[in-house]
Order: sequence, then structure tokens, then C-alpha cells
Amino acid sequence: ARIRAGLIEPDGGRLVQLVVEKSQRDVKRREALSLPRVKLTKIDLQWVHVLSEGWASPLRGFMRQPEFLQTLHFNSLRLDDGSVVNMSVPIVLAIDDSQKHSIGESKSVALVDSEDNTVAILSDIEIYKHPKEERIARTWGTTAPGLPYAEETITKSGDWLIGGDLEVIEPIKYHDGLDRFRLSPAELRDEFTRRNADAVFAFQLRNPVHNGHALLMTDTRRRLLEMGYKNPILLLHPLGGFTKADDVPLSWRMKQHEKVLEDGVLDPETTVVSIFPSPMHYAGPTEVQWHAKARINAGANFYIVGRDPAGMSHPVEKRDLYDADHGKMVLSMAPGLERLHILPFRVAAYDKTQGKMAFFDPSRAQDFLFISGTKMRTLAKNKENPPDGFMCPGGWKVLVEYYDSLAPA
Ligand code: ADX
Repeated sequence: ARIRAGLIEPDGGRLVQLVVEKSQRDVKRREALSLPRVKLTKIDLQWVHVLSEGWASPLRGFMRQPEFLQTLHFNSLRLDDGSVVNMSVPIVLAIDDSQKHSIGESKSVALVDSEDNTVAILSDIEIYKHPKEERIARTWGTTAPGLPYAEETITKSGDWLIGGDLEVIEPIKYHDGLDRFRLSPAELRDEFTRRNADAVFAFQLRNPVHNGHALLMTDTRRRLLEMGYKNPILLLHPLGGFTKADDVPLSWRMKQHEKVLEDGVLDPETTVVSIFPSPMHYAGPTEVQWHAKARINAGANFYIVGRDPAGMSHPVEKRDLYDADHGKMVLSMAPGLERLHILPFRVAAYDKTQGKMAFFDPSRAQDFLFISGTKMRTLAKNKENPPDGFMCPGGWKVLVEYYDSLAPA
């Protein structure tokens, strides 16, 4: 039978949640005061958030060496019972020589934010070498200069990694007006149950929604209804952590997504909009596995993947970094993702004969217009309009406003 009761189980069977019980918070804060401190960067804090809510279940903290090596070499982790879960990007915490020295023989450390507030305790720690070049080469398939995540955090980080079990003192909040959209996997599961979802299909994105994206989502819904599901719910799940400088910032994307629902491109009745707290690697086929795996933990059993997921232009050469088809091919074969239904899509482009976004038909290639991110940015910056039917007018207006806000006064 296709229709099953209940949501897909989290990886490892139980959703990991690492936030300390309210009644224990003061005790833990006091305990932390006596421990050596490790200062977290903004991106480290995003990973603490990710770990604390169980997006990386069954992972219970920053990776120790065996987890790090399995991730790099196998894109997966073997559990004690012999089963395999997917894990394609290292979730690690780097420290430098002096921090390592100050930790000494301590078995635990306190993780603190930029203002020295205790965020978490990492216990039963293991410190091991940070093989930066190997980490970059294996994650991205290149060590070319200009990889945004590598330059932002790996290259300039310390030569050691510290792994251990994480206990987070309080839920991580950003106080940017968007926290209400940051539902944890547990909260999303509650929401899907409340809505009586019999299928949950996730859409990861880091860009504004154009009608090509929307086509993938509405087509998926149609297919699920055809398969016999009665109430498929869409998780529209923009990535909220680190993104590269020329991507549209989260707050503007959220405004844009709101318009897409207001303008009726997507149906609010069957859509949950929430923020995925992970930072972005731009590691293509390797990273898309992480994007999919994390959504299993949030209760999604279907995952949409289209052209060049988690991709970007090559940082030095004039081409895309990854083959645009590899992401969906890899995802369909990835270790530990067998339970997730992957919904691969062809590239969508603007069909000039229909005046709307449609799946590209190579037999009449001349009818199609590809509007790249760069092209879209150029249009919005110059206050020009894309062809009618590319994006809903309300959504486009938000983008124009964003680029306007960047222009020098
Ligand atoms: S991503 O980094 O989050 O993958 P983006 O927000 O551009 O980037 O894409 C979100 C999803 O839409 C991905 O699954 C991607 O493959 C898909 N996608 C984006 N543009 C197209 C397109 N023109 N045709 C088909 N799929 C697309």
C-alpha cells in the first residue's frame, strides 16, 4: 500500500534533540564556567543550531575523527546496529594551537558566542588534525581558490578539529524577526501531523522562487495526487545559514516567498514555509545529499531535485562547477537515502511560444530562454522586467527593491 500512516522515521530511529531541559539550564551554565572556552564563529553557531534540533540525527555533536573520516570517504555513517545513514558534509569545529593548548587534558569545553555567553557544553571530547586541503578536495572535488564556504571558514580556521557530545543551554535564536519561521524538525513534524499530511515533499532553495521552481513543486503535487495521496503537503524550505555574497539575503528571500504565496503561485493551504538553519557549502552533488537527509529528519518522505542543485559557477573557470545532471543522479543512488523518494526534474526554462516557464524540450531548443541567476540580477538591478510569466509581479517587485537598496545613494 502506498499510503502509510505517520511520517517517515528520523535517521537512526529517534530524533536527536540536544537542548538542555529548562530546569537544568542554570546547573549547566555554572558547570560551563569552570571549563576551558572555545569561541564560536557565526557559522559554528549555525552548526550548533543544526545539531541541537536533530537535523543531522543521529549525530549528537560535532564529529569525532571516525565520523569525520566516514563522512569524507563514504558520505555516510555506519551505526552500531550495522545500518547506514547518509552524511555527506563534515559537521566539525576547528580550533587553533593556542586553544588546543588551553584545553589541555580537560574532557569537556564550554562553547561561547562572540560576547562570551555560554552557548553549549561539548563533552567527552576528541581533538584531531584538521586536514584542510583534503577536506576541501573531498567535499568540493576541487581546491580551486574562491570556494565561498572554504574561504569564509575552512582556510582561515585552526589546524585541529574538536569533536564531542553537545548539550545546548538554550534554543538558538537570531532575533531578526524571522525566528518564527525557524521550525525545528520536531515542530515541523507536529505541523505536518496537525495538517493530516499523508505525504510531505520538500523543496530546498537558496534563491528567490521563479515560476520554473514553482513548476517543479506544482508538478510534484499533481504526481502525488495521481499516485493516490490525498493530502500531500509541501515544505518550502529556504536555507537560512551562510550564503555567498551575491546571493539574495534571507530576509529579502522571505519577503519574496511571502509574495509568491500571496500571488497564488503556491497554495498556502498545502504549503509550510520554514527556514532550514544550515549554512550553504555550494558543494553540488555532495551537498545535495545533506540537504535531502536533513529533510528526512524533519518528516519529508519526498524530495524534489532539479538542475544543478547546490551548484555555482566555477570560481575561476568560465563554466558551472558541477555537471548539472550529477546532483539528481547522485541523490537517487546515495547511501542511506533509500527510504527517501527522490523526484528528479529536467531543467525548466522560459518557453517563448507559450509565454511561461516549462520543462525544456531539446527538440525545439530555439523556443527556450534560459534566465540565469546572473541575468536575473542584472535585470532587477537595471529595473528591467523579465519576460511575463517568469516570476509573479509581487515577487519580482521585492527583488527590484532589494537591488535598489544596494545602489549607492
Ligand atoms: S540550491 O542551491 O538550493 O539548490 P536553487 O535555490 O537555485 O539552489 O534551487 C532550488 C532547487 O530548484 C534545486 O533542486 C534546483 O535543482 C532546482 N532548480 C533551480 N532552477 C531550476 C531550473 N531552471 N530547472 C529545474 N530545476 C531548477
